[in-house]
Amino acid sequence: MPILPIEAYTSQEWLDREKRIIFGNSWQFAGFMEDLSDPGDYLTVQCGFQNILLVKGRDQRIRAFHNLCRHRGTQLLRAVGKKQKALTCPYHDWTYDLSGQLISVPEKEKEFPDLEIDKICLHKASVDIWRGMIWVHPKADAPSIIHYFDGIAEHLGPHDPMRLIEYPDTKIEKLIKANWKIVVENYIDVYHLAHLHSNTLQMYDHAKAEFGFVNDHYMFWEPLVKKYKDNLDQLIPYKRIAEMTDEYIGAYVPWLFPSLGLSETESSWSTFHVIPLAPDLTKVVLRSKLEPMTDWEYMRLGMKSGEAWKKIMGVDTKYKSEDPNDPMASGDFMEEDIFACEQQQKSLTNPLFSIAASAKQGESPIRNFQQIIAGWMKTEQN
Ligand code: FES
Ligand SMILES: [Fe+2]
Repeated sequence: MPILPIEAYTSQEWLDREKRIIFGNSWQFAGFMEDLSDPGDYLTVQCGFQNILLVKGRDQRIRAFHNLCRHRGTQLLRAVGKKQKALTCPYHDWTYDLSGQLISVPEKEKEFPDLEIDKICLHKASVDIWRGMIWVHPKADAPSIIHYFDGIAEHLGPHDPMRLIEYPDTKIEKLIKANWKIVVENYIDVYHLAHLHSNTLQMYDHAKAEFGFVNDHYMFWEPLVKKYKDNLDQLIPYKRIAEMTDEYIGAYVPWLFPSLGLSETESSWSTFHVIPLAPDLTKVVLRSKLEPMTDWEYMRLGMKSGEAWKKIMGVDTKYKSEDPNDPMASGDFMEEDIFACEQQQKSLTNPLFSIAASAKQGESPIRNFQQIIAGWMKTEQN
């Protein structure tokens, strides 16, 4: 029996409740430490119905505020930016300093003679740093982030993301025509790995995967197949991550509830951030960090690995197609996943849609995840 009803994946009303109950009450990924390197650097993050702005102060501290002018509620800032001296609302130029304090109001004496400027501040949100990532919580009195991630930290890869480098061409944004939970369920579906990705993720030994939940968070690890491991020097696409010694080597692919997947492998460390836009539309932002390399090393390793894959692993796509844009013939596991998610979403409104059976082991994470969602949705918070 499915745990969540079909409306959970198709209705605006359900998504609105998720935005209030789940996204309005949890810690969410905001970016990397280096996104806010200098005073005045800022970024904005959507947490359900609330847009949060993070800005680095002159004291080097990162603060989080609701992106909501105290005058008439206009959003102060858009997306990301650098070296802002103060935060000025685009509508009537009310201006706040980097600590959120209102500092000037145009035509103050004429229009607002009684307004006590020093009593007005932006609404505060919470911000914290965890494993080199900036996290934000819409509540000013959020529970501690250490407590939020209690128990999952020891199941993550040994990577030190602070030391790794994000190359400019490794950031990818995708729009997926599917509900955000379909995207998460695909990420944690162990059963599909050997099938949908039989020719794209064959370097990992899916039969030996270890996985399960720690509170609301999911842990997953699988080793390399022998052929890949034995020829790693030739096959690895980038420099090997220094912390990925033989003892750890494999792929760690956890899901941090509600909206961040990590992919921590022998050669990269990536974030997979899921942002719900509509019941059937989800944005995914993928960012990857690698061992520091020169451009030359980056190119040389990529070429060497491509050649070696053909020779040793005998790469071939599972499907052949005349269409150069056919995702199933792309040889790219992410394109395969997006295709599967979109095809699944299309069937949800078919009156004949039902789930005949759910795999005992390989789909157990999906059932667990749905139970977690159902549990949150029962709570009274909003
Ligand atoms: S709404 Fe921001 S200054 Fe008026
Ligand atoms: Fe997949």
